[in-house]
Amino acid sequence: MTTRLSRRQFLSRGTAVAGGALLAPALLRSETKKQQLHVACVGVNGMGFADLSNIGSHPAVKFVGFCDVDSDRFDRADEAFPGVPHFADYREMLAELGDTVDAVSVSTPDHMHAHAALAALEQGNHVYCQKPLTRTVEEARRLQVAAEEAGVTTQMGNQIHSHVAYRLGTRLIREGVIGKVKEVHSWVGVSGRQHSGATERPDPAEVPSNLDWDLWIGGAPMRPYAPKVYHPFTWRDWQDFGSGALGDFGCHIFDPVFTALELTAPVTVKAEHDGTNDEVWPGPETVTYVFPGTEYTAGDQITVIWRDGGLKPPRDLAQLPDGEELPGGGSLFIGEEGNLVLPHVDMPKLYPVEKFADFTPPEESNLNHWHVWVDAVLAGERTSDGFHYAGPLTEAVQLGNVAALVRGRELEWDAAGLRVPNNSEADALLRREYREGWELGSA
Ligand SMILES: NC(=O)c1ccc[n+]([C@@H]2O[C@H](COP(=O)([O-])OP(=O)(O)OC[C@H]3O[C@@H](n4cnc5c(N)ncnc54)[C@H](O)[C@@H]3O)[C@@H](O)[C@H]2O)c1
Repeated sequence: MTTRLSRRQFLSRGTAVAGGALLAPALLRSETKKQQLHVACVGVNGMGFADLSNIGSHPAVKFVGFCDVDSDRFDRADEAFPGVPHFADYREMLAELGDTVDAVSVSTPDHMHAHAALAALEQGNHVYCQKPLTRTVEEARRLQVAAEEAGVTTQMGNQIHSHVAYRLGTRLIREGVIGKVKEVHSWVGVSGRQHSGATERPDPAEVPSNLDWDLWIGGAPMRPYAPKVYHPFTWRDWQDFGSGALGDFGCHIFDPVFTALELTAPVTVKAEHDGTNDEVWPGPETVTYVFPGTEYTAGDQITVIWRDGGLKPPRDLAQLPDGEELPGGGSLFIGEEGNLVLPHVDMPKLYPVEKFADFTPPEESNLNHWHVWVDAVLAGERTSDGFHYAGPLTEAVQLGNVAALVRGRELEWDAAGLRVPNNSEADALLRREYREGWELGSA
């Protein structure tokens, strides 16, 4: 007797969760590999276009739906992949396409990641979701749990995870090239509110006919449209929509720190900066995390310090040679036997230079992050950057943003209880209220 399987049943049959790992029986895996993967995309311009270009360059992928709230922003996607049906509302797209969708890529502004990704997970779809995985700590936990329950293959869009530079950097740390790690400094030149140029809400303006502003706002509190300060790209500065410099770059730059040291949830976090208001993220900030130690760290705990907005760690810490400066962004690992600087998207460097003059790094490969996800979907496996990993990484990043909003207070973090036991104001900021009709998980 044979049983007809729907597309989704077929593609998810190999992904039952057992002991936290995805399973793919060998026979099914080879059958599955012959299948096309039907992918729908939410947000198709900006980074969304980079995502769909890379996902679509995999020979198994066929796009079945393009969704964007701005009808003027389909042009590049249409040129690259003509004939794919358009939608403005991801809820309508998922409902209409139903079982013909296997996987969904989410590239909206941060405040809508959790909504779109959760809707896809609840339909049993595999999900690729841009970084930071979510806008809040609670949402990151919610997606991690939902992905585990769905037993699908997920991945966050911090593509440098698969880049040879980060792969080599993490490997050198794990192979003990600089010994056990005593401290880490991470930084980026960007500031949390440099994109829109505004710190207060500007005067309302008429919404252009190509943009569905109600859908763009989605689960955030409604506010009037204004040009240039929100859509596209400049939404980053606003607490309601974006995640500041730490949220924008933390899931990139902390990624090799988490992978190399196998960091889990921080024990405490504290942020310092010049101040902000209720609307935008702070300017230059320093966020100090203390994590439990691991087999790759020197002590029972390890301090990881984040800086942005032009702040950098003291140059002398790295033992750079005269005339050499720290890169514009990246991480400095201080080891018991040397230091490693991992620039943001450049090859790792070891210091002091004389000590490592004869060191030859091992060969390391460069992977296509998007294809890693597609291949894992087809094989019924999970990737190293699935939501089981990206969830806790994003929780730590967004916890840093919570600390920034209550600046100067050392927050204790109870990861198991998802709470900040020593600060009720910070505890409330782990989650947010959603606009009526946009409660998380409702669509
Ligand atoms: N991985 C990276 O290197 C990288 C780089 C840039 C941006 N990003 C991430 O990608 C995401 C998008 O950033 P961006 O700079 O491309 O922003 P953007 O504003 O330039 O583009 C977002 C696109 O999504 C559309 N959109 C907005 N809300 C939508 C909704 N609810 N449903 C469907 N479409 C919607 C917009 O019209 C636009 O086309 C963010 O999460 C950002 O953090 C990642």
